[in-house]
Amino acid sequence: MDEKVVESEGRNWYKRMSFYQIWIRSFADGNGDGIGDLYGVYDKLEYIKSLGVDGIWFSPIYPSPNADFGYDISDYKDIHPDYGDLDQFKKVLTKAHEMGLKVIMDLVVNHTSDEHPWFIESRKGKDNPYSDYYIWRDKPNNWDSLFEGKAWEYVPERGQYYLHIFAKKQPDLNMDNPKVREEVKSIMRFWLDMGVDGFREDVINFISKEEGLPDGLAFLPAAKGMSHYKDGPHIHEYLAEFRKVCEEYDCFQLGEGPMTTVKSAMKYLTGPTKSLDMMFSFDHMMADCLYTEYVHRPFSLVKLKKAFSKWQYALAGRGWNALYLENHDHPRIISRYGSEFFWRESGTMLAACYIFQRGTPFVYQGQEIGMTNIRLMSIDQYVDVSSITNYNTYHLKEDPERRLHRIHLSSRDSARTPMQWDGSENAGFSKVKPWFYVNPNYKKINVAKEEENRDSILWFYRKCLALRKSSETLIYGDYTEYFPKDKNIYMYERSLGKESYLIICSFSRLPVRAHKPEKFRGRKGELVLCNYRDGAGIAKSERALEQVEYKLAELEHRKGLLRPFETRVYRYAF
Ligand code: GLC
Ligand code: CA
Repeated sequence: MDEKVVESEGRNWYKRMSFYQIWIRSFADGNGDGIGDLYGVYDKLEYIKSLGVDGIWFSPIYPSPNADFGYDISDYKDIHPDYGDLDQFKKVLTKAHEMGLKVIMDLVVNHTSDEHPWFIESRKGKDNPYSDYYIWRDKPNNWDSLFEGKAWEYVPERGQYYLHIFAKKQPDLNMDNPKVREEVKSIMRFWLDMGVDGFREDVINFISKEEGLPDGLAFLPAAKGMSHYKDGPHIHEYLAEFRKVCEEYDCFQLGEGPMTTVKSAMKYLTGPTKSLDMMFSFDHMMADCLYTEYVHRPFSLVKLKKAFSKWQYALAGRGWNALYLENHDHPRIISRYGSEFFWRESGTMLAACYIFQRGTPFVYQGQEIGMTNIRLMSIDQYVDVSSITNYNTYHLKEDPERRLHRIHLSSRDSARTPMQWDGSENAGFSKVKPWFYVNPNYKKINVAKEEENRDSILWFYRKCLALRKSSETLIYGDYTEYFPKDKNIYMYERSLGKESYLIICSFSRLPVRAHKPEKFRGRKGELVLCNYRDGAGIAKSERALEQVEYKLAELEHRKGLLRPFETRVYRYAF
């Protein structure tokens, strides 16, 4: 389709929006079996709307044996019985639409579950209609799987190996088979016809594998072979086919692009090969690690800023960013880039540090109340396949406690604990024992408590999302970063015409001085947002030590310094 039509105003509605991500199993249990579901979602739609978001992204809610909690799908056109059924989904969709909320689904087509009927047939032999739906070889190559050992698994019935880039129970689809691509389009139509508004496309840059599947070189642990399937030879052709389907509807496409670089992302997001409206990139998630699960290092603000600005500048005027700090694949952000000690301060500052960038912000369930990582006592309590593999594969010479600590830092389970709705038993998530551990801090961190306090993280998210939405400058304005080398402060400007916003974020536990950039010196801006109550400072802490810290910070602040994790947003008219 004509690029101009794709770019026309009408299809760009997602740019004004912000989204809330639901990982349903841990969101809200509506029917009392300890598992989150669509009944719970239905009841919480008002809450979601109250945040000021404009849409919901559902992580997979389809039937799945849950080897990878929904990302191993056994039926693309139904709802997992744990979560309800298609009728209940339609109820949620209708009500969401009535409330002005868009709904986007997860499209996971790099692989299926090994319990999907296509695979059950395919594994039987070489001469049935599904034989070529997957990638079969007589001999494996040297590729690694990202989740579980080597990327090949032998099936005696068929006498061949199948490829799985992820877990063993996630066989990769053979996208070179036109029938498989027709299936993908039919799945898209199924949901679009029902009325959904778009897709988040899982590991979409992995779906085209290089012919011959040559051996790969290792450039990261568990990534041998990646250069032969990341941004593979036919990726843009295949995505163009899927794009055509979307163009028949008023929907948008957001791709997840693990290990994607700015350069390769441009091909997906701009120009004649444009096939996605936005992409989830990962660079900014590596300011304290290398691909979360493997190598940990101390948090570096300079690294974080570099990653933010790299994407902001590269896409300026050409593409559109998807902004996020959390999702179901990453540990909680306060525990990583903020401070559990300065919990409220860092949780609010982190909101401002990304929501005002140029792009569409995504907020992951629980992020808006500042949920933090859970620390389980034993590896046996973890359920995420990648955490279990990592524990049993890497750093084996270290003692078990140290290895468990690595899991505390990196596990995806940290972000998958039940949503903390109130201070009652099971955090108000369920009337019965939940399917997974509730974070013991739920009495301090929960929705009900934060609703009552206007200085809470929850209310700060609301303020940020409302401010962003109220301003063309914050939606469309240019992005400029200041003092990129500063180790304590992240400062950026959004400007449009004669208006500018200056966003100042301290990542320091100690008071620090923020210098104003040249452009703003001698000008009086209007303070439109701050995470400390003006003058009087912070909400009182229950702990004596914290109070001392806060008092000291307050004294320093009088000397013109930013307090710990302070964020300030100024508006200037030129
Ligand atoms: C994506 C999903 C993740 C899943 C993986 C394999 O990265 O976000 O949860 O495990 O793809 O489907
Ligand atoms: Ca339930």
